[in-house]
Amino acid sequence: MQSTDFNATLRDGTRCVIRLCCHTNSGDDRQHLKEGIRSAWCHLSPESRYYRFGYVPQQLSEQQLDYLANLDNLDRLAWCAFIQDDTRETGIGLARYVRIEDEPGVAEFAVTVVDEYQHSGLGSLLVGHLIDSAREAHLRILRGYIRPNNRAMLALAKKFGGVAQSEDDYLLVDIPVPPAQPSTHTGTAPEAPSHTD
Ligand SMILES: CC(C)(COP(=O)(O)OP(=O)(O)OC[C@H]1O[C@@H](n2cnc3c(N)ncnc32)[C@H](O)[C@@H]1OP(=O)(O)O)[C@@H](O)C(=O)NCCC(=O)NCCS
Repeated sequence: MQSTDFNATLRDGTRCVIRLCCHTNSGDDRQHLKEGIRSAWCHLSPESRYYRFGYVPQQLSEQQLDYLANLDNLDRLAWCAFIQDDTRETGIGLARYVRIEDEPGVAEFAVTVVDEYQHSGLGSLLVGHLIDSAREAHLRILRGYIRPNNRAMLALAKKFGGVAQSEDDYLLVDIPVPPAQPSTHTGTAPEAPSHTD
């Protein structure tokens, strides 16, 4: 069984915890996750909401939250990132996958980082953890549906070997789940090359 909590330091110096969501699979865990998603939602720009859902919902419905928190840690699994202080935990990112029923080696994935913490390496750390879990679940591919103009997500997927093909209004991007290596990621976001955009 994999560890469930990792300390991480983002490129901007932010310290956070990356945790396997709902690892005890209790109702309290699911409720806690729903509350975390609901409050992180308020810190997402319309653009981020659009890239994540393909439209711009003002808020998530109870039904959507139930769906997002319905995890079994094998076929439906999520890692979240949060900042911890003495009194509370503040969610800043989440990556999840859901195994595709008639393609058991493939799962659809999505990742979201709240705007204030984007481009500090958190998306990459979350996807790294997701890939490790996918390997344990005997998945071969993590598949994402990404808007063609979502440059950050396309660059992130490419870093992990993602291969894209057009499908309607999206790019269907398959990230291969590589065999186990001695160390696939650390808790420290790697330095980024500078961007011209
Ligand atoms: C896509 C998303 C998850 C990336 O998270 P992040 O924490 O910013 O990602 P990282 O900092 O790890 O960056 C990953 C790579 O993306 C690229 N990148 C990040 N931001 C970028 C930007 N604004 N423009 C171009 N490339 C960018 C970089 O190549 C970066 O690699 P590097 O760190 O080695 O330079 C985040 O932007 C997000 O939540 N967007 C809204 C929701 C979304 O689009 N979800 C994807 C749907 S599946």
